[in-house]
Amino acid sequence: MIYDLKNDRGAGWVLGEKDALNEETLAKYESVMCQGNGYMCLRAAAEEKASDKIGRYTLVAGTFDHFPGYACNELPNLPDTTEQRITVNETPVTAAAADKDTYLRTLDLATGLLHRTFCQKVEKDSVKVDFYRAVSLADKHIAAMKTVIAPSAAATVHIETGISGQVPRGEHMIAGERSVDGGIMQLVTRSVQSGILFIVSTELDFFIESSEGITKASPCTTFNLTGDRTLTESADICVPTGAKLIIEKKVSVFTTRDRGLEMFGTAELLRHGRTHLSENATKNFDVILEESARQWNKRIWSCRDVVIDGNDRDQLAIHFALYHLTCMAPVHDNRMNIGAKGLSGPGYYGHAFWDTEIYMLPYFIFEAPDEARSLVEYRYNCLPASRRIAKKTHCDGARFPWEASWITDEESTPIWCDTGEYELHITADVAFGAYYYYTVSGDEDFMRRGGYELILDCARFWASRLEYNEKLDRYEITDVIGPNEYKVHVNNSAYTNHMAHFNMTLAMEYARKLRTDDPELYASLNEKLKLDDNLPSWKEKADKLYLPKENSDGIIPEDDVFLSLPTVIENGVSISRDPGARQRALDIGFPYCMIDKQADVVALMYMLEDLFTPESKRQNFYFYERCCFHDSSLSLSTFSALAADLGEKEMAYSLFERATMIDICDDNPDSSNGGVHAASLGGMWQCCVLGFGGVRRYGDELRIQPHLPEEWKSVSFEISWHGQRLHITADHTDLTVENLTKNGKVEFLCGGKIHSLTDKIRIAY
Ligand code: BGC
Repeated sequence: MIYDLKNDRGAGWVLGEKDALNEETLAKYESVMCQGNGYMCLRAAAEEKASDKIGRYTLVAGTFDHFPGYACNELPNLPDTTEQRITVNETPVTAAAADKDTYLRTLDLATGLLHRTFCQKVEKDSVKVDFYRAVSLADKHIAAMKTVIAPSAAATVHIETGISGQVPRGEHMIAGERSVDGGIMQLVTRSVQSGILFIVSTELDFFIESSEGITKASPCTTFNLTGDRTLTESADICVPTGAKLIIEKKVSVFTTRDRGLEMFGTAELLRHGRTHLSENATKNFDVILEESARQWNKRIWSCRDVVIDGNDRDQLAIHFALYHLTCMAPVHDNRMNIGAKGLSGPGYYGHAFWDTEIYMLPYFIFEAPDEARSLVEYRYNCLPASRRIAKKTHCDGARFPWEASWITDEESTPIWCDTGEYELHITADVAFGAYYYYTVSGDEDFMRRGGYELILDCARFWASRLEYNEKLDRYEITDVIGPNEYKVHVNNSAYTNHMAHFNMTLAMEYARKLRTDDPELYASLNEKLKLDDNLPSWKEKADKLYLPKENSDGIIPEDDVFLSLPTVIENGVSISRDPGARQRALDIGFPYCMIDKQADVVALMYMLEDLFTPESKRQNFYFYERCCFHDSSLSLSTFSALAADLGEKEMAYSLFERATMIDICDDNPDSSNGGVHAASLGGMWQCCVLGFGGVRRYGDELRIQPHLPEEWKSVSFEISWHGQRLHITADHTDLTVENLTKNGKVEFLCGGKIHSLTDKIRIAY
């Protein structure tokens, strides 16, 4: 991986690689260099060769299919448009044959442009090849490719490319109909179980560039429909000495999941795809790229950028995070959510987890409240299915699926996995996410339309799920999996119990508020959720719910047995830094020793921060950091943000640095094969803005208490707070906050004092 390339904005924007089709790293680059726009994503498979480990993938958000007999539903892989078979004088063009010094692949995070370039020998001559690819952020249905072939002497180029349904996991799609009309190739196909129609359309254009300019070439082309599920166009083109051949390929994708197209039949969809593509095919690649780049700037970089003065590698990492969060989030449609690998690969089947609420949602809440609202509304739209899950497990209210897919689907966790049955904390996490959105945005309209109902119905689930322990006269939650998935069937997971308590207490507070402030809304919710019948028992249950507290050593037990298990720590070294610790843990068995997969109690302390004293947080932080393998990519950023809160800057920075390398590291070529780690990308933003930047929703107030690492001179970013847009800069001594909206007064806490501004304020913190 190359980190120190520059674009016209400078360093920190371009990710590169010089591995030229090395099978070891190919799948990883396909993930980390994938391109998308929240609607669809194309993995960065090279035109001439995809990785053997994963292969070519194009995913469209929300299009789940459950192939008969499979363990769960998943996002189906669409027919591919990225493959191009090119020969020059009958020699195949391939980076594998490139002169290695000339090979470079770059992803420009600012514009979303993927570029691959290399030179190779062709008999006694040579050819320079450049592949460019973009997925438009300006038009979510459009992708475009440009291939420039520059032979050193006159040559004949043969190209064959089109649409191919011969892709990994292609069984989700029926063979489909292929057609060619006016040069546009189309393949319409249908997912086997969910019956969604997909239309992929493509068109090729050829140009010759010479000293006289660029002229359209009209070679004699052939359309091939002979292969199974494929449809290609091939051409032989003579390129004169000193000239270049430019091949442009435009692609459009639509499905009957798209809003407004749900009722389309094959013929209508074909027509729709063709019309849309023809409109775009008249634009050349550079125009499509330019329109898309303008959107990247407008939507993301001009307002959501985190600008770090001090370290280009960190700057690149945060740009990488914001780039991928944009590619993966289907914020155009509130029936969809973000998969744990986004749309960057088949990992986790496209399913959404607590990763959204706890790791990614804060980014959307503070940066793009409208997009956050869509993600929270998705959970509201899942209420009917979640109520059915609760009912099936003999509970009331709404129990959210641990792995979520389409809004009407119930639990989507693969049947062989325990988490679907036991990882209950997701329900409290969903309520927490809605609450977080509300407190930062002040969006009362959302709460009235569904937010209150969502939080109340989650509380109803908990009230029915608690178990009364007569001996101890307390309520408990037994037989669950907490965030630490290395322990199953645990009782009284501190995280789960505290979050359930938070959810119930919040619900009661909202019910009280509505009863007096909005009796009409209360009455309608009462009718739906039987609040008057339920509320009295909620109070008793919440008051008596066992909330694990610090033991005599100051440590909060993660669950009833965790602290009594044998440790694998030796000489006080954190197990994630001790190469022998894993073997010791394996010898005992992961469930039977004191080890954590990821932040658990630490996540709780970070999220419900006012429940714990700074001293308790510090003690528990160090205790649990030593026990934690950070085997889940979710872990490091949470530890880092809590360490920053505690002023443990060195520790916070070193954990952050490790988090930034989860996807773009060199030492583990397989770390991202199935896709990038969405939660860790959201976590990286949290480290920068909530951790080092010290921004926090504290109760209903805004707090800004920076903890800048020594490695940075300053950091600046914007946030939204109750409809106002603030620009924040922090260096090692001063904090500057500017109200860009200038629409009223904003107050925030810093250094234990309340500061207020209507325009701009600079304070020493
Ligand atoms: C983690 C979960 C996470 C899931 C999806 C698992 O390995 O333990 O906390 O939700 O991955 O990212």
